Amino acid sequence: MTTDPSSTPPPSDLAQAAWRAHGNAYVPYSRFPVGAAVRTERGEVFAGANIENASYGLGRCAEQSAIQAMASAGGRRVQEVVVVSSADDPASPCGACRQVLFEFGPDARVWLLNEAGAWRATSVRELLPDAFELPRPEERADGGGSP
Ligand code: THU
Repeated sequence: MTTDPSSTPPPSDLAQAAWRAHGNAYVPYSRFPVGAAVRTERGEVFAGANIENASYGLGRCAEQSAIQAMASAGGRRVQEVVVVSSADDPASPCGACRQVLFEFGPDARVWLLNEAGAWRATSVRELLPDAFELPRPEERADGGGSP
């Protein structure tokens, strides 16, 4: 019998890393802190928070901060994602974040969690069906690294 992924609770180490980042969110404009943590196929964990800017459009979502941290450290494949917020309904990644998550984790599992402990399990493919795709970097001879 296989376990139903939707009934598997958020991995506690990822949730902890996401809450730590949530505590570092820079949100003077929205007052809506978000934290995200990702686990790579190598088992490394990277986290990020939303970082806003007086020029609003330059604000960065938590999921994108986590992915930037991971990719900057050489991570290329995401297996699991946890997103935490203080919202009543656990906050769901915005459309742009879904595409960014898809780039590195098309098959990743995703958990959305709030402070009250409510959570929902989903996946990147469920969040972004019919994603925009180009031939993937790892299919290229150079591995998608620097030219
Ligand atoms: N935010 C995220 O960090 N992730 C999302 O997927 C949705 C929105 C942030 C952006 C902004 O700093 C705040 O939440 C309110 O929109």
